[in-house]
Amino acid sequence: MSIDMLTIPAQCVTQSRIEELDYNNIEFGKIFSDHMLVADYKDGAWQNPQILPYGPMDLSPATSALHYGQAIFEGMKAYRDANGDVLLFRPLDNFNRLNLSAERMCMPALPEDIFMQGLEQLLKLDAAWVPPTAGCALYLRPFMFATDNFIGVRPSDTYRFIIFSCPVGAYYGQPLKVAIEPNYVRSAEGGAGFAKAAGNYGAALLPARKMQEKGYHQLIWTDAKEHKYIEESGTMNVMFVMDGKLVTPPVSTTILKGITRNSVLTLARDFGYTVEERKVSVDEIVAAHKAGKLQEAFGTGTAATIAQIATIHYNGEDMDLPAIEEREISNRISAELDKIKTGQSPDPHNWVQRISL
Ligand code: COI
Repeated sequence: MSIDMLTIPAQCVTQSRIEELDYNNIEFGKIFSDHMLVADYKDGAWQNPQILPYGPMDLSPATSALHYGQAIFEGMKAYRDANGDVLLFRPLDNFNRLNLSAERMCMPALPEDIFMQGLEQLLKLDAAWVPPTAGCALYLRPFMFATDNFIGVRPSDTYRFIIFSCPVGAYYGQPLKVAIEPNYVRSAEGGAGFAKAAGNYGAALLPARKMQEKGYHQLIWTDAKEHKYIEESGTMNVMFVMDGKLVTPPVSTTILKGITRNSVLTLARDFGYTVEERKVSVDEIVAAHKAGKLQEAFGTGTAATIAQIATIHYNGEDMDLPAIEEREISNRISAELDKIKTGQSPDPHNWVQRISL
């Protein structure tokens, strides 16, 4: 790719690091592709978008994002189809959610062209980093943070937006054992739980670690008022199949508007399954399990896609769910979603953007 074909100016690497990548052994989030997009906000406008070699940046210790948490991010994936073309999954949905998060965190909206052209140009330059391996993808990480060197508490006047990428394999290596969290909360009504704000993830680490020390991979968050209703699981939206129906908590100010969540519900409706977006109480899950009606449970997210839940712990008891192979709805949707993302199935909802290389 020559630089003059790009509309965003690019400073390309002289030597790619692609040899560092073993396509058959990709760990999540540890190796980064050659280039990144950087744009800055100052004097009331986004300016100077450019593509640079991936690498460290100079930051003042007073950078306000590090102190008061004006920091948001997105996660999206690009795949390879059978012809070697690169397919990006639902990028506009990530763009819209980024600006939703920006609004909640009192940060400036990003123009669509910086996001979309930046993605497209990065993918052209770093196409070799999109793994052809089944179950793998190039994970793109757009994020924005406050850059004022000022430690008074107020919204920053300056921001930086970056997109970098990393080839990834499976986020979770096995079906999950999760525990319902009876004390800690991820988010409360009126808070920023629906935003993909860095602080939401930071505050979740201690409760998750405590559950991990008890032998569970992750926890299931419950509502902040009564710990009675299910919210999310770990960093994912959560879904259940009870009595043949796909049930998931509705999006709200406390729950992330998951793009994988929406894709799964859409495909489930396309397949003719009954889908219910409604409050799900912990008691309902326990009763369904007792009655033999809790057939499936799984998390949905960009990183994990569909993460099967094998066991749910609540109140001193482990509820073991049916074997993964028996789970008709999640297995069927997961397979179809993979096929759409990799161009093996028709894309009736126009989710896939083909990058012409
Ligand atoms: C996602 O991309 O699914 C996330 O929320 C980020 C993280 C779990 C890697």
